Amino acid sequence: MLEVQIKINGIPVIVPEGTSILKVARMANIKIPTLCWLKEINEIASCRMCVVEVKGEEELVTSCVTEVREGMEILTHSSQVVESRKSTLRLIMANHEQKCLTCVRNNSCELQKLCHEHGIDDASGCQGREKRYEVDDSAVHMVRDNNKCIMCRRCVAVCREVEGVGVIGVHGKGNDSYIGSPFDMGLGETTCVSCGQCINVCPTGALYEKQEYNAVFSYISDPSKYVVVQTAPAVRAGLGEYFGLPVGTGVEGKMVTALKMLGFDKIFDTNTGADFTIVEEAKELVKRLEEGEKLPLFTSCCPAWIKYCEHYNPEIIDHLSTCKSPHEMLGALIKTYYAENIGIPAKDIVVVSVMPCTAKKFEIKREDENAAGFPDVDIVITTRELGRMIGSAGICFGDLPEGEFDTLFNKSSGAGKIFGASGGVMEAALRTAYEMITQKEAPSLEFQEIRGTKGIKTAEYRVGDQQLKVAVVSGLKNAANILESIKNREAEYHFVEIMACPGGCVNGGGQTRQASDMINFGQIAERRAKILYDMDSKDTLRKSHENPVVTKLYEEFLDEQKAHEYLHTSYVSRGL
Ligand code: FES
Repeated sequence: MLEVQIKINGIPVIVPEGTSILKVARMANIKIPTLCWLKEINEIASCRMCVVEVKGEEELVTSCVTEVREGMEILTHSSQVVESRKSTLRLIMANHEQKCLTCVRNNSCELQKLCHEHGIDDASGCQGREKRYEVDDSAVHMVRDNNKCIMCRRCVAVCREVEGVGVIGVHGKGNDSYIGSPFDMGLGETTCVSCGQCINVCPTGALYEKQEYNAVFSYISDPSKYVVVQTAPAVRAGLGEYFGLPVGTGVEGKMVTALKMLGFDKIFDTNTGADFTIVEEAKELVKRLEEGEKLPLFTSCCPAWIKYCEHYNPEIIDHLSTCKSPHEMLGALIKTYYAENIGIPAKDIVVVSVMPCTAKKFEIKREDENAAGFPDVDIVITTRELGRMIGSAGICFGDLPEGEFDTLFNKSSGAGKIFGASGGVMEAALRTAYEMITQKEAPSLEFQEIRGTKGIKTAEYRVGDQQLKVAVVSGLKNAANILESIKNREAEYHFVEIMACPGGCVNGGGQTRQASDMINFGQIAERRAKILYDMDSKDTLRKSHENPVVTKLYEEFLDEQKAHEYLHTSYVSRGL
């Protein structure tokens, strides 16, 4: 690789040729503010927050798209640069609804932070927008408020380039342009898959999940309700960031203590539900392998992938695993087996799921997710909403002692723990399926080939007398590519894991939102996933089918009919 010598803020550095000034600055530990740039998917240089001064150039240049060249001398924070950024911010604010105090993104808004850092602390020259847009709350999972949109187009890019869905785009021209759906339909009327990745990249409060945590507070204070909460594997890997802890900090124990302080009647672990999912899914895989039918089997725990499939690929619905996702399985068991055991009717039990995901808000409203005749799960709140609940209850999260989940659904295997990472479901299923097929433990319980955040990972494993071909995919654009190769018979697999969010649920659309510098350079998914893999490697119980809670329920309660009735679901073709 060719290198060039440059100076950045007077300091000489040698860097690879062809690198952008923005990236070079980051390598030199200098943060240049950005509002539109997203690595590889939104390099449109429209916001001009990232301008820098380059010696010899008459105009300031946008650092996100300008490459370094030999001898370049760059000033990232000169007075000319700072003045330009201030003007940019004033222009944006002049067209921005200034209701920051009541905004869901107050204190975590990138625009607000930049205004604060640049001293835009009064309204002079920023009167706030005159044109009003109707707020779109037609989707089950989220709200679009264009009055706070700054037209950075990050949401458009992530929807199209990462998820391959493209249900939002720029409408109108110039000052009258805005982000909307085709034919100005409400988002809820489109084929939006509810992944929430657009929320994660939105720098302001223009996009946010439907806030449902107040309903949870109401249930908790209602003495006629028995309120059970469960938390997904990835939540413990992202919640700490809401309280300022570094990315990659596991907070399982503190999270459980906080949930107890909030007043839930029982705190259960969705990881236990994941172990049930694996046992059922491995059984399904083994059966299909024996019968040689409906292969490849596709995983079903990601509701955004399921919705995508129902809209765009209904012809493969038969290939989807019929297993409910882990929190739905656990909800079903809480409202049947557990309800019976504690003598409380299912109608009086409220199951709250804390998820790293916005599509789960859609999933709980699906038909055929109601084992006891009531929804398996009543409310889904995101990691961020749980953060708000904890904050509003005045709980000092960072100082909390480690708590423990309540019996009965408190125990999980390492396999259940890694569900939150891309490849985790596949790896967990392989540990169990290998034993079901061969009656022996797999030579290694760690399937390294399918770990990591690469969008498409493939591997082959010898299982008994069979060569098992598997693929692990994250990001629905990658899913479209692999489906295409399967349909064209260019590739053949027995088992495929698909997650909508890049890197899996650890990077879900409901996780604590990070600012763009971290999104672009922070390797968020890798650092969060490491927490889960570390938990797995330290566990002595690493296979779902050996979880004593799982074996107990299959012995006492889950005969074949009940398992099928309570733990499986069905799908529909939704059309485009
Ligand atoms: Fe470079 Fe927007 S123009 S970040």
